[in-house]
Amino acid sequence: MCGIFGIINDNNNQAATSVLEGLKKLEYRGYDSWGISIISETEIKIDKHIGKIGEAKTNLPVGLIALGHTRWATHGGVTDNNAHPHLDCTKKIAVIHNGIVENYQGIKEDLLKKGHQFISETDTEVIAHLIEEKSKLKKINEAIFETFKLLRGSNAIAVLDFKTQTIIACRNGSPLVVGLGNNQYFLASDVPAFLKETNKVYFLNDGEAVVLSNSGVKLFDIETEKEKKLIPQVLDWKLEDAEKGGYPHFLIKEIYEQIKTISKTTSINEKEISELARKINSGYKIVLTGCGTASYCALAARYFFAQQGVDAQAIPSYEFMPFSKFIDKKTLVFAISQSGETADTLIAVKEAKKRGAEIVAVINARGSTLERLADIVLSVGAGPEIAVVSTKAFTTQLSTLYLLTTAVANKYEEGKNKINRLGKVLTKWLDVQSINRLISLAKRLMDEEHMYLIGKHLNYPATLEFALKIKETSYIHAEPFAAGELKHGVITLIQKGTPCFVLASNDEIKEEVLSSAAEIKARGGLIIGVAPFESSDFDVLIKTPDLGDLTIFPNIIVGQLLGYYLGVGRGADPDKPRNLAKSVTVK
Ligand code: F6R
Repeated sequence: MCGIFGIINDNNNQAATSVLEGLKKLEYRGYDSWGISIISETEIKIDKHIGKIGEAKTNLPVGLIALGHTRWATHGGVTDNNAHPHLDCTKKIAVIHNGIVENYQGIKEDLLKKGHQFISETDTEVIAHLIEEKSKLKKINEAIFETFKLLRGSNAIAVLDFKTQTIIACRNGSPLVVGLGNNQYFLASDVPAFLKETNKVYFLNDGEAVVLSNSGVKLFDIETEKEKKLIPQVLDWKLEDAEKGGYPHFLIKEIYEQIKTISKTTSINEKEISELARKINSGYKIVLTGCGTASYCALAARYFFAQQGVDAQAIPSYEFMPFSKFIDKKTLVFAISQSGETADTLIAVKEAKKRGAEIVAVINARGSTLERLADIVLSVGAGPEIAVVSTKAFTTQLSTLYLLTTAVANKYEEGKNKINRLGKVLTKWLDVQSINRLISLAKRLMDEEHMYLIGKHLNYPATLEFALKIKETSYIHAEPFAAGELKHGVITLIQKGTPCFVLASNDEIKEEVLSSAAEIKARGGLIIGVAPFESSDFDVLIKTPDLGDLTIFPNIIVGQLLGYYLGVGRGADPDKPRNLAKSVTVK
């Protein structure tokens, strides 16, 4: 939530423009307003606007040092004044912030008594004034560290200081990464902002601060205020990973990338998978957790474990607490997350850790808080996922967990072959004809306001994920149900012409699913089959490849694509759906 990007020593003396370009790459983190501050000759100058950055330009003067922000509002409405950066009274300190300062009211009251003037309703502005107050007696670094220690909640702050011509940033809970370029230094909440310039990075840990200056980057421990050694790492990410590469949107690019990313999971994590399979076979309990799409991945993985005779619990992270008492030292808690920064997931993981569980992080982004908390990391290797809506992270997480279930049953090689075949089949299946069929279906459904979906067993979590893609990307109400639930109440919703998706595989329960479809059809519903077989119950069929238990992958991809085409057709921004942020770092 909220994107941070700062530059020291911009190569072209156009730091504000470079920050603006970098912020465009981070817009998925928040997009209700944006702002940039730059050190000019005499003072800090600021440019702030509500709305998406889109094709925005900035009129800020030239300069070497700038710091900017894209906002996802928490405290204070979406106004120019509430957009970051926020200045102190002297206009020599600019602050941007990711997180929530839980105790800002009390701090603000004290500062008001001391005569500070506030122009926004945000919690962030108190940070600028508190630093100003403290810097009257202390060096700027010390003033910032002391201020940061007083803030309650999960926060990352970045400060542009006119006097020392530095950017100083502190982290506790919200991500920050430093990029070490060729005589240029970057601070960002995510790597894509500066990947064009460097892949040499340092991910800050909680409790660490950095000072970026003309002469380089220094790392500090905030508590002791002592300098630490900064050991950078070189990422194997390529520039293309963070660019649209000829596609109109990141979402459609990332949907297509699954052709490669799913198969790639067969060549990574081998050691970790075999260690985990051994633990599971020695009697460890399994709990799978995550939020949103990741929680549907947890549920689908539960069905895959059950296929191999292994019991696993799937608990959404925000509902974890009542069940945490069942967790002990012999529990493996699989925390599934694209970002590794989702607050609810981290809270569940910390609780599980307290109870002695071993934490397995199933993650995509690197250097996250979850990665640090984990005992074992299954990094799913999908590369940067820029669209807010999760696609390739989900399918790589699920294929990684699928591989683990096969390893538990001593069928890892077979599992790998099946996943590799899935990759190949997807490449053929996603041809022009299939896409045109989906586009015509999207055109037919464009004006619908309600849709329903049914699926049974493995296709049940698939309907949850399919429906979420439709809702997020097109804003159409799409409600998923287990097929068996239908006659227990839900069937009242069906009217003449109501679109109902029926997700199915060529398995022993397909007849049961088709009976449910027939019940909907008898009430006038328009039955859209998403399945690898034909049936007279389907009014429309989106035929998916027959891949046995892996058929749910293409079934879900139909939902991703349909959501995308419906969203585009209805004028929504598929990369940045309204009200959403890519990583939800608040409770
Ligand atoms: C849906 C989506 C969200 C995330 C959820 C968890 O498309 O992206 O539901 O899956 O917010 O995020 P991560 O995976 O980063 O923990």
